Amino acid sequence: SWLFRVSRKRKPGEPPLVIGWIPFLGVALNYGRNPLAFLRLAQKKYGVIFTCKIAGKYITFITDPFSYSAVFRQGKILDFQKFAIGFSSKVFGHPDFTDPMYSSSYKDIHSIFRQTLQGPVLQQLTTSMMENTQIIMLRNNLSGWTKEGLQRFTIRIMFEAGYMTFFGREEQAIAEEDSAAKSLLMQKIIDDFLVFDKAFPEMAAGIPIHVLLRTFRAREALAEMLYHTCLKRNQHLSALIERRIHAFDQMSHIDELGKARANVSMLWASQANTLPAAFWSLYYMLRSPEALKAAQNEVDRMLRESDHKPVMAGSPLILSKEQLDGMSILGSIIEEALRLSSASIMIRVANDDFTLTLDSGMTANIRKGDYIALCPQMIHMDPEIYENPAEFKFDRYLDENGQKKTDFFKNGRKLKQFLIPFGSGASECPGRFFAMCEIKQFLTLVLWHYEMELEDVACAPLTTDSTRAGLGILPPKQDVQIRFRIRACTDGG
Ligand code: HEM
Repeated sequence: SWLFRVSRKRKPGEPPLVIGWIPFLGVALNYGRNPLAFLRLAQKKYGVIFTCKIAGKYITFITDPFSYSAVFRQGKILDFQKFAIGFSSKVFGHPDFTDPMYSSSYKDIHSIFRQTLQGPVLQQLTTSMMENTQIIMLRNNLSGWTKEGLQRFTIRIMFEAGYMTFFGREEQAIAEEDSAAKSLLMQKIIDDFLVFDKAFPEMAAGIPIHVLLRTFRAREALAEMLYHTCLKRNQHLSALIERRIHAFDQMSHIDELGKARANVSMLWASQANTLPAAFWSLYYMLRSPEALKAAQNEVDRMLRESDHKPVMAGSPLILSKEQLDGMSILGSIIEEALRLSSASIMIRVANDDFTLTLDSGMTANIRKGDYIALCPQMIHMDPEIYENPAEFKFDRYLDENGQKKTDFFKNGRKLKQFLIPFGSGASECPGRFFAMCEIKQFLTLVLWHYEMELEDVACAPLTTDSTRAGLGILPPKQDVQIRFRIRACTDGG
């Protein structure tokens, strides 16, 4: 019948075709299945490469970590951008910038990421983030212990600080007026962001945003705040946003709403993964006495060695990029938290028929229009690469000299890529250096300004909410209570 002819037959030279229904991305949400378990099962049965039909698309998974570079090398035939922009314009409602009608080429706009998020300019961005984080941390004159959910705490501080860092803030004098109204407004922005972000699995599964009315309204409310006319009134805009405003203002055919929605996509990119990553880093650090002690020692040492003058509690602390880079214990804590919580999938689309040669020399014919998918979580949770992979070990990424460890092996062979929370190749996150800096700052500032503990240290470890598998850093299934208070006096170590 017609129905049967929809499915294709495996041709000679093609990877095994997995028959049957497979959970993927947001689809997992509705069926409560576990993509990682599925992929492991399929790998056992079919080998390191196999093709599945998911939501009408043929997706070939490559599960051998040594073959990742074979995929990245095919940058011409295996396209990332078209897929990414197509998805982004559906979800965020901005124009498809790769369309030739928008005079300026997307390449120029894309290059702004690297120019404004990496290299020497990063110092300015991290300084701004450090200042903003402390404005928020020290704003409420808290005395005594405060109780709050750790996730709530992290989002409250990191979201507003990141928002100000990228999109600027009002002049101080204006900002101090009517602070109650301002904090209500920020709370509304956070709520809208969370509503929008929560629906990502559905949107990834192909449900149009117009059907998700609350999600659509939340996105439009966010866009409302990010019109160019609003942003131009702010001070301290990041170079990233300033350059994009300039570039989009020069492009023909884009209306103001389209530009504002493009800013929502930047807001999402800068927050959606950072918030859960900061949460897990702080959670694991607080939960492990050895990690907490080592982190505290590192912060104290760094402050002692720097020419940082002893300061009273409440005065802001500013660290240089070099100081942050030198904090390898915090680096290892964050990377270990990322390893345990990252579930992103890297996707490429074949824009022609071609033959992929894997690391083993085995070849596989891929058809035009098919997707290739890499799932780094299989590496992150591989017991051959990481002993007791489900366990948090704060020093997993430290070598015997306390420096960053980069030697990880599978089948006795050293792996080039053993931790891929930020993607790789053409889809590597341009914000990854900033992300590491801002989370290190966050941990440092929590240790510096607060005494903090989990209310129930002995309770079973939190688990991730895997309904978002495929989309980046997984949030926790539920929040966990902390208590904290501002440190009475800090003397720089
Ligand atoms: C893309 C992860 C923080 C900006 C990506 C991708 C991943 C990722 C996996 C590739 C997405 C894909 O394959 O479709 C993360 C993680 C973060 C983080 C784990 C935090 C822990 C940030 C921050 C920014 C940022 C702070 C700052 C603006 C971007 C942008 C892209 C991207 C602009 C799209 C790049 C492109 O289109 O080529 N991120 N990210 N990210 N990220 Fe991040």
